[in-house]
Amino acid sequence: MRKPIIIGNWKMNKTLDEAKILISNILSQKLDNSVEKVVCVPYIYVTEIKKLIDGTGIGLGVQNMFYENSGAYTGEISPIMLKSCGVSYVILGHSERRTIFNETDDMINKKVKAALQNNLIPILCCGESLEERNSGAEKDVVKRQINNSLFGISKSEIEKVIIAYEPIWAIGTGLTASSEDAEDMIKFIREILKDIYGEISFKVRIQYGGSVKPNNIKDLMQKENIDGALVGGACLESTSFCELINYKI
Ligand code: 13P
Repeated sequence: MRKPIIIGNWKMNKTLDEAKILISNILSQKLDNSVEKVVCVPYIYVTEIKKLIDGTGIGLGVQNMFYENSGAYTGEISPIMLKSCGVSYVILGHSERRTIFNETDDMINKKVKAALQNNLIPILCCGESLEERNSGAEKDVVKRQINNSLFGISKSEIEKVIIAYEPIWAIGTGLTASSEDAEDMIKFIREILKDIYGEISFKVRIQYGGSVKPNNIKDLMQKENIDGALVGGACLESTSFCELINYKI
């Protein structure tokens, strides 16, 4: 059985005070223990947020990292720095990083490898643009992203990787992929993994992301291959984030 996982991607939002209030509001609510829950916060808040969530069952993540451990890379953050601050998860290859900051599959592959080498859990994002979907290329695009980003990742490592399918046209737009379309692509991703890794692919968790809200989470989570959600907008408010975590209740 794959444990469901709900991850909040705060993106570039909240001041430090607002961030602390959000965490204390989340912690004031009862949260389903059978669901893994993670907040991916801006780097600069990591140590403060860690103090608040340590021992609460909420995991700590960030939204990016560089693939070298140290050196002359002005402005970057390394895997060992993240580890030394108690970070456990890292989102890699988010479409905003790919499109705004020109990240390539090759860079993302290096990041996935560096995360695994440093015992960080990578949350590897993939997903097509609207033009790619409209031209019928969505599966080719996602297959290329998955194959390239996971190049050289071994059977023993793949189980630790979380994959998030986030169609770009559904991010922040209020347009969610239908649960059928999301399931169709996520099942396809599992088949790609099966071709590379065999039966272990059934242990890999694959999330959906893109306008996940309390009113569509149940429908998505009922699907056989969807193991969780990577959430933007709805994680910035404690009530909606907790409703997502408690989707079973
Ligand atoms: P929204 O939930 O705001 O659509 O964002 C999704 C996302 O990009 C999470 O990484």
